[in-house]
Amino acid sequence: MNKKIWLPYTQMQKAKDLPEAVSAKGSCIHLKNGKQVIDAISSWWVITLGHCEESIVKAVQEQAGKMDQILFANFSHSPANTLSQELQEILPDELRYLFFTDNGSTAVESALKMAVQSWKQKKGESQRNMFISFKNSYHGDTVGAMSVSGQNLFTEPYKKLLFSVIRADQGTRSSDPVSAYIDDFKEKLEKHHDVLAGVIIEPFIQGAGGMIVWPREALQEICTLSKKKGLYLIFDEVMTGFGRTGELFAFQKLGMTPDLLCLSKGLTGGFLPLAITVASQEIYDSFLSDEKKHLFFHGHSFTGNPISCAAAAANLREIKKQKWKAEWMRIESFHRKKINSLKSHKNLIDARNCGTMAALEFRLKNQGYGSPFAEDLTERSIQKGVFLRPLGNIVYILPPYCTSNEELEKIWGIIEEELNALTSF
Ligand SMILES: Cc1ncc(COP(=O)(O)O)c(C=O)c1O
Repeated sequence: MNKKIWLPYTQMQKAKDLPEAVSAKGSCIHLKNGKQVIDAISSWWVITLGHCEESIVKAVQEQAGKMDQILFANFSHSPANTLSQELQEILPDELRYLFFTDNGSTAVESALKMAVQSWKQKKGESQRNMFISFKNSYHGDTVGAMSVSGQNLFTEPYKKLLFSVIRADQGTRSSDPVSAYIDDFKEKLEKHHDVLAGVIIEPFIQGAGGMIVWPREALQEICTLSKKKGLYLIFDEVMTGFGRTGELFAFQKLGMTPDLLCLSKGLTGGFLPLAITVASQEIYDSFLSDEKKHLFFHGHSFTGNPISCAAAAANLREIKKQKWKAEWMRIESFHRKKINSLKSHKNLIDARNCGTMAALEFRLKNQGYGSPFAEDLTERSIQKGVFLRPLGNIVYILPPYCTSNEELEKIWGIIEEELNALTSF
């Protein structure tokens, strides 16, 4: 490994030489040493159908030979138009307008900025620049996205840069009652609703905060109450989108439509960076004006990149096929069976699953994100042919949808070995 590369989320003083990946296909990553590793976490939750899905490879190759990049504010192009059409076919009428950025954090930043500016322009309510978010949420690493995320080791060094947010306490485990997930929210909503622009939430699964699964009733109540107060409901589906929860989108599983929807990661099937913030008619309309000062002041160099758009359009064409829903159900029921057989294990605090995601909360002495447990487990699992990357003591599986039952069996086998080998609790 080149020693001048600075890795994400890595203490470089302790960084070890990484295994070199040379190719990836389906559920597996192939290493230079000849070994193959099952990608049990979809390479940070981006790969959906499988690595190097053929229809996406073809679309990318074709587009790459035609047009690389153009300035999206001045030229339209067919990959973006086709992708918009594909997406509009699966989104409800209330969610119409697509704003393109490059990654999950910027999809969230755009949503936050849209919400605040919309209130100001719609009714002159410029005092509405606060958000309610949740204690264990994660919305990204840019400053706005960090502000609305839960505050922890990740955000501590940047504390003084972050804007103020109303953060609702919440439950974390499957045994916590619904009230633990909503009581604090209700109180804070009542107290602060006059200054709120919106409520931001990761529907059904809070990812980086520990793969926490929202009880449906709690989620429904949070959304209903937010809507009653007339607040913008922002669904961050950067992780939950494109099948992870067992439906194409978590909002469909819930049966409620947000005002702003943030999409990225699986949008291109994990092939290339791209994000879209989808806005309601009301929000879009509040930016229409004769005055330049009312436009949305946001744009990135690679906004609407044609090759990324071509990848996303190909991914959407594929993922709409009924066969993928069957795969989500297969993976979900596989997880459920395993969880049922393991849930009373003495080294387990909690086990939860939602759609294609399963998470086990290990009983460790040092449970924080700083614990060496996670890194050590990653190293051991790669040696055994499975890529796992726990979040502290939460060991989870979020596999590409082509992962076979034999491969799932292998992943679960390694997790079970780790669970049995725990001595430090
Ligand atoms: C729910 C959610 N929102 C936003 C992000 C940030 O996405 P990105 O890493 O592409 O900036 C993530 C990343 O894990 C996420 O899980």
